[in-house]
Amino acid sequence: MAKNKNSSPVWSKRIKQNVNSLFKKVGSSLNVDKRLFKEDIQGSVAHVEMLFKQKIISFKIKNKIIWGLNRIHNEIIKKKFNFDISHEDIHMSIEKRLFDLIGDDAGYIHTARSRNDQVVTDFKLWLIESTKEIIKILEKLNKVIILNAEKHIDTIMPGFTHLKNAQPISLAHYLMSHIEMFNRDKERFNNNFQSLLENPLGAAAISGTSFNIDRNYTTKKLKFSKPTRNSVDTVSDRDFVLDFLYATSVCSMHISRISEELIIWNSDAFNFISLNDKMVTGSSIMPQKRNPDPLEFIRGKAGTSYGNLFSMLTILKGLPISYFKDLQDDKQLTFSSFDNLKNSIIILTDVFKNIIFNKKNMKNLATKGYLTATDLADYMVQELNFPFRKAYQITSKIVNFAERKNKKLNELNIKEIQKIEPKLKSGVLNIFDLRNSIKSKKSFGGTSFENIKKMIEKYKKEIK
Ligand code: ARG
Repeated sequence: MAKNKNSSPVWSKRIKQNVNSLFKKVGSSLNVDKRLFKEDIQGSVAHVEMLFKQKIISFKIKNKIIWGLNRIHNEIIKKKFNFDISHEDIHMSIEKRLFDLIGDDAGYIHTARSRNDQVVTDFKLWLIESTKEIIKILEKLNKVIILNAEKHIDTIMPGFTHLKNAQPISLAHYLMSHIEMFNRDKERFNNNFQSLLENPLGAAAISGTSFNIDRNYTTKKLKFSKPTRNSVDTVSDRDFVLDFLYATSVCSMHISRISEELIIWNSDAFNFISLNDKMVTGSSIMPQKRNPDPLEFIRGKAGTSYGNLFSMLTILKGLPISYFKDLQDDKQLTFSSFDNLKNSIIILTDVFKNIIFNKKNMKNLATKGYLTATDLADYMVQELNFPFRKAYQITSKIVNFAERKNKKLNELNIKEIQKIEPKLKSGVLNIFDLRNSIKSKKSFGGTSFENIKKMIEKYKKEIK
């Protein structure tokens, strides 16, 4: 284990006594922000390269520092780095270790920068990669959903409104509604890149720096798109954190809604789906149980995600413009939201790989609750030229009649129907066929089989 020789803080000449020991412990962010070590080293390398290019440090010192940073990188990867919380955070830890490795020349590294711009730089670099990762796994999830949709174009289910049977739809159409949700999530995450790609490095503590730095150079090196425009705002701004936490919250909410629906479908009352062994857990007392715990777990995570967003909003509320220690919690909240969302997406992807749709039960429920009543009303408008409201009232009467007789609409005969509306001819009976109902919903975005097949092709092309 590499030892840090000197553990006193850099400010020990000015502040003679150790800080309160409880604060030293709880105020240290090292255990959280050590996750940023790669980005911190990446940022520091770009910074010293720029300092050399601008003739602020010598070639020799630049090389020495970069050698040390690379070595620290390896030590951390090989778990040989001594993380000591008395060094407060990842930035100070790395700087301290650099002193051990290369001596006083390490002191040049912090020329023309502050931890205030350093931490935002590291964090944005981390968020850029993490946002890309979320988008990538959302794509994988969508792929698996499309595979399910392809298999279930002809699977008929009741579409629900208010959780009451409403109109027949294809299961594929229902599944593809999830793709729309996750595509919006991808878009939301994509929109965040604009501010994430603004380079904070060079804002220093709050006012910029008197050194002749080149912010465009570090911008290029670190693959940002441009430097931020105001040094005060740069060290103060955490909007990009809120954007990420919001996008994460919305995506978690989508996952939560889908999970809830699948949990309902998995209930013995519905029995629309079965989950295989990989996606259930048992009970400690009831030997027969197969509980959808993974779905419940990811349904709940939206709560944590909203909590993290609200925590960040609340930390920022009323905080004067500039850097304050309050901001340090941004990382813990973001890492928590990221980890939860990443796990949730992967688990949901696995659910869709291990799900069996019980077609018979879906179809069976679709025959209950007069799902084709709207089709009947539409038919009277289209065939008899009735105003929709009149057709709607007549259909209500027919539904009431069927209910009284304890019959489904397709079990009525034409005589019974004509007693209520004599103008209806026997052709009307085709209207009660569930497949015909689905077939007829050809409006753009509707559930017709034709539309669905086109959409599947479209999604497949987009996702490739
Ligand atoms: N650990 C700090 C954070 O995460 C780094 C920035 C510290 N800056 C300072 N002036 N104390 O926010």
